This record gives sequence, C-alpha cells and structure tokens, in this order.
Amino acid sequence: MDEERFRKTCAQFATGIAIATVSGRDGRPLGITVNSFTSVSCAPPLVLVCVDYRSSILPHFRNSTHYGISVLSEDQRDVAVRFSQPELDRFVGIGWRTGSTGAPLLDGVLAAMECHITQTVEAGDHAIFIAEVVSADSTEGRPLLYFGSSYCSSTGSVK
Ligand SMILES: Cc1cc2nc3c(=O)[nH]c(=O)nc-3n(C[C@H](O)[C@H](O)[C@H](O)COP(=O)(O)O)c2cc1C
Repeated sequence: MDEERFRKTCAQFATGIAIATVSGRDGRPLGITVNSFTSVSCAPPLVLVCVDYRSSILPHFRNSTHYGISVLSEDQRDVAVRFSQPELDRFVGIGWRTGSTGAPLLDGVLAAMECHITQTVEAGDHAIFIAEVVSADSTEGRPLLYFGSSYCSSTGSVK
C-alpha cells in the first residue's frame, strides 16, 4: 500500500478532535492533539488513543497509570493547533484543572474523561493505550471535526 494513498483514503473518515493529557514526572501537565481517540467497549467502559513513536509525550504516557481526554468544541480550533505544535508550553493561557486521578483536563470542552490505562499495544509506528474510563462529564454543544486534513464543524469550516 502506497503511504500517500493510505493517508488520503483515511482522511475521508471524519473524526472529532481531543486533547490527550498526562501528568509529567514533575507534575507538569502535558498534552497532544489527537484524532485517534475512540470508544472501544461499553462494559467495561473502554477507550483507546494511539500515540506516535516520534511524539515527545510517548515516554510520559508509558510512565503514567492514567490519561485525560478533553473533547474539543467547534470554537476551540486554536487549542487543537496549539497542542499539535512542538516546543511550546501548551498550557500557558489555557484553563485546566487536575482531575481526581491526577490527569489534567481542559476547561470549556464538550466532554472530559479520566482513563485508567489497562493495556498498551505496540502497532506499527504507534502505541495504542487502551484504558478504562473512571470519570466522565459532558455538556451540550457542537464538536470540532477533522475531515480531509482540515478542521471543520458540523455547519462548515472553522477559522
Ligand atoms: C488533527 C490532528 C490529529 C492528530 N492526531 C494524533 C494522534 O492521534 N496521535 C498522535 O500521536 N499524534 C497526533 N497528532 C500529532 C500530534 O498532535 C503532534 O505530533 C504532537 O503534538 C507533536 O508534539 P510532540 O512531539 O512534542 O508531542 C495529530 C495532529 C493533528 C493536527
């Protein structure tokens, strides 16, 4: 399979956008923009997120027992951009709190979950972190979407 064709084909699958977070060894919050988040099982409530082997956050995921998922709303494109850019203190100017498990969670999001890592699967060039959801909260609103390699909302493109 040609990589470009694979990427182009997968880009036709619209996803939401979340910030996957962990607490670093020094307690510093760390996070990356992900569209690989998905639910896996209802009983028990399992989710997964795939983290690239090249990502600087990967060792912190491997050292963590929990991660946070903050699902972005359509007005949070700037947050998605910030958390996908290297070498930035991504949490500066961002409202966030520490959840009961120690995982950082962003303010003003559509949904937030704290997840206990139960299994790590090595798959190609990503590690898949399967986790049990131990707390979950959501509000009404419209999601930030990712489709055709661009951010958009259910009503069209977002700036
Ligand atoms: C829309 C979008 C979705 C992304 N999804 C993922 C993902 O699911 N897993 C991942 O490891 N990286 C994903 N990335 C890339 C990371 O956000 C980015 O590479 C990372 O933040 C780079 O920083 P780091 O190496 O300092 O961690 C995505 C980026 C964008 C823009």
